[in-house]
Amino acid sequence: MPVFGMCYGFQAMVQALGGTVAHTGLGEYGSTQADVTDTGSTLFNGQPESQSVWMSHGDSVTEAPDGMRVTASTPGAPVAAFEDDDRRLYGVQWHPEVMHSTFGQRVLENFLRKGASLESEWTAGNVAEELVEQVRAQVGSDRVLCALSGGVDSAVAAAIVQRAVGDQLTCVHVDHGLLRAGEREQVESDFVDATGVDLIVYDAREQFLSALAGVTDPETKRKIIGREFIRAFEQAARDVVEDRGDDEHPVRWLVQGTLYPDVVESGGGEGAANIKSHHNVGGLPDDLQFQLVEPLRSLFKDEVRQVGLELDVPEAIVWRQPFPGPGLGIRIIGEVTADRLDILRRADAIAREELTAAGLDRDIWQCPVVLLADVRSVGVQGDGRTYGHPIVLRPVSSEDAMTADWSRVPYDVLATISGRITNEVREVNRVVLDVTSKPPGTIEWE
Ligand code: XMP
Repeated sequence: MPVFGMCYGFQAMVQALGGTVAHTGLGEYGSTQADVTDTGSTLFNGQPESQSVWMSHGDSVTEAPDGMRVTASTPGAPVAAFEDDDRRLYGVQWHPEVMHSTFGQRVLENFLRKGASLESEWTAGNVAEELVEQVRAQVGSDRVLCALSGGVDSAVAAAIVQRAVGDQLTCVHVDHGLLRAGEREQVESDFVDATGVDLIVYDAREQFLSALAGVTDPETKRKIIGREFIRAFEQAARDVVEDRGDDEHPVRWLVQGTLYPDVVESGGGEGAANIKSHHNVGGLPDDLQFQLVEPLRSLFKDEVRQVGLELDVPEAIVWRQPFPGPGLGIRIIGEVTADRLDILRRADAIAREELTAAGLDRDIWQCPVVLLADVRSVGVQGDGRTYGHPIVLRPVSSEDAMTADWSRVPYDVLATISGRITNEVREVNRVVLDVTSKPPGTIEWE
């Protein structure tokens, strides 16, 4: 069987095949330059000798297993790639699957086509059809509730379910009070107008705020938000049944737009560490009263967008930048209160407005705006001293959110955003830019 090991998989192959993996103290995180020593090899055929690769390793392979041809090295990884065509074994220390590994896609293609002799058959059309069929088989004639946030994931998930079971579907938009300015209205108008789905807006603002009172720990916040989400849906399900007087077809299914990266980062993949509990995976309560329909659970965001276009989801929704389910709750570092939400909402609206005006929406993957609510610094505005909060801008470029780099937003755009926020949001007297890639930072601050 052809095998391709990446990163930890690469090291696991070495361990299994008799090479050496050691803690050399030379970890590499983020963009790294690799020297390809054999550009005629199966993986690197026709590629340059020097290429940018995305690394995330603490241990390194210091000695390749017998029979392996070493084909690349980096400053912190003397053995950074190898292959053995006879046994069809291949490996690289870096992450070829992320866009920041410049020739990563070519390396993967070379493995699949040449190393494993496979042809490519994936198309958005095939996948959309398959997912529609799967949902139809899964839910039968039951009623289905879809958690609709207004973002691309839940919109595409809803579109798949709508195609599968039509008016058995009711969408619920929970307004948890952690939304950005104008978001609730956008869901109410844009999405419903485009798709004609049956939508209930459930106002749970009070419920979330009181559940979050006094909480500062990020994981606790995520768990609380996950739990309250489900409680709100359970209530919405009862409302749907009541409205329709349809006790015979209770709502058994809850559709969620969970993606593969959410599953992996919540510790759902085999051997994966829990980085943070995405509200829709690790944050779910144990006594959940629904079964989940998660048609996008094995897809990445770029694939979801392709499937969305295939299903005629409007482009304005398909290309929306990601916004996390726990919303502004995980962008206030410190306790979440109504006043703090109001400050952040105003700052965020300015940043979004200016990035859009500069035509940068499609260049930037997303730009979290973060309020450091427990930090204050001294400033001067007019003739007076201020003691206000900093706002962090976190614009990132990415393809799937598993890795990211900070976006080089033009200085004049940053200056406009900073000037407007400090002038228009009285409580903020400093705007700072986050220049950290992922890894080591995550995209959101919590
Ligand atoms: P991190 O912060 O893990 O974020 O680098 C990766 C991507 O996931 C989004 N994100 C979430 N999305 N529920 C979501 O629906 C969540 O709990 C959640 N946490 C993070 C984040 O905005 C980024 O796009």
